[in-house]
Amino acid sequence: MYRLLIRPLFFLFPPEQAHYLALFLFRLLVRFPGGKAHCRHWYIPAKREPVKAFGLEFPHAVGLAAGFDKNGKFADLMAWLGFGHIEVGTVTPKAQPGNPKPRMFRLPKDKGLINRMGFNNRGVDAVVKNLQRKEVQFVRKEMGVIIGGNIGKNKTTPNEEAWQDYRICFEKLFDHVDYFVVNVSSPNTPGLRELQEKEPLLRILRSLQELNAQHEHPKPLLLKIAPDLSEEQLRDVAEVAVYAQLDGLIISNTTINRSGLLTKKLEVDRMGPGGLSGKPVFERSNEVLSFMRELLPETMDIIGVGGVFTKEDMEKKQALGAKLVQVYTGFIYTGPLMVKQLVD
Ligand SMILES: Cc1cc2nc3c(=O)[nH]c(=O)nc-3n(C[C@H](O)[C@H](O)[C@H](O)COP(=O)(O)O)c2cc1C
Repeated sequence: MYRLLIRPLFFLFPPEQAHYLALFLFRLLVRFPGGKAHCRHWYIPAKREPVKAFGLEFPHAVGLAAGFDKNGKFADLMAWLGFGHIEVGTVTPKAQPGNPKPRMFRLPKDKGLINRMGFNNRGVDAVVKNLQRKEVQFVRKEMGVIIGGNIGKNKTTPNEEAWQDYRICFEKLFDHVDYFVVNVSSPNTPGLRELQEKEPLLRILRSLQELNAQHEHPKPLLLKIAPDLSEEQLRDVAEVAVYAQLDGLIISNTTINRSGLLTKKLEVDRMGPGGLSGKPVFERSNEVLSFMRELLPETMDIIGVGGVFTKEDMEKKQALGAKLVQVYTGFIYTGPLMVKQLVD
């Protein structure tokens, strides 16, 4: 029904509007009498196969990738759609509007999306408030849903001062999330990906680990990387990850590569710059996943992201060494039954 009726309706709207319309309607459903029972029946996996990663217990392997719920406003709703973990953000210290619209485009022929959102979010204080809501507490306590905090820097913060932005977000979110992700891999904040270089990266990660160690119970710290890094850069990342004693990696973010697309070049060019996600990033993100699994110590867990649509896609990433997987674009194309289909 989603593919034949609901998706074509949503796809009549520009992608960003469709996103908020779908979430608005779903919120109504969850609040409606019998709504939660409907979710338990249709969306929440019946099979509980807990996965242990980074010292946390996840209800199952499938989570929602960062960027879908930038402000933690829908974290509880996404739990009712069956996700075992929800990564909120990317969050920055101050609110920022992101890039001018339109900034998200569909490539239906390729089952992909191009976005240049640019870390639009309401700032870390607003995200904390959203995560303090009783509905979010409920899904964490009663359903065991894990919340991740994906953190970044404001556009106006120069790269040399970026580490301070990451510290602010880390400290403010500390009591409200279960794990942290340092995002230095979005292609849509000018210069951000340069922070993946050895020195600046190490500075950010060490500084966060210092803060982390001051807490009685430090939180798992992960790094999310781009699929466009060279082999040499990946080796550097692995070295830094070990040196900074990271708990894991998220592989990967969107790609800036546009090769091999079925959508006409003219059309793709017209969409402009941005990160490409969905099916077109599946192979490359798997290559990076497999390469990094070989390099990293076994104690470091990997979350595989990029182009997961089916159970086979998920199992492919698991076979390459991913403990958990996350989805974004596949969920837009497949609809609300996706998590249950992947897990059950
Ligand atoms: C519209 C959109 C916004 C995104 N925003 C973020 C973000 O803020 N932070 C981040 O780490 N990743 C962001 N991502 C990347 C996704 O989390 C994911 O890594 C990527 O899309 C690959 O997974 P997919 O093929 O399942 O979409 C975004 C992706 C999309 C499509």
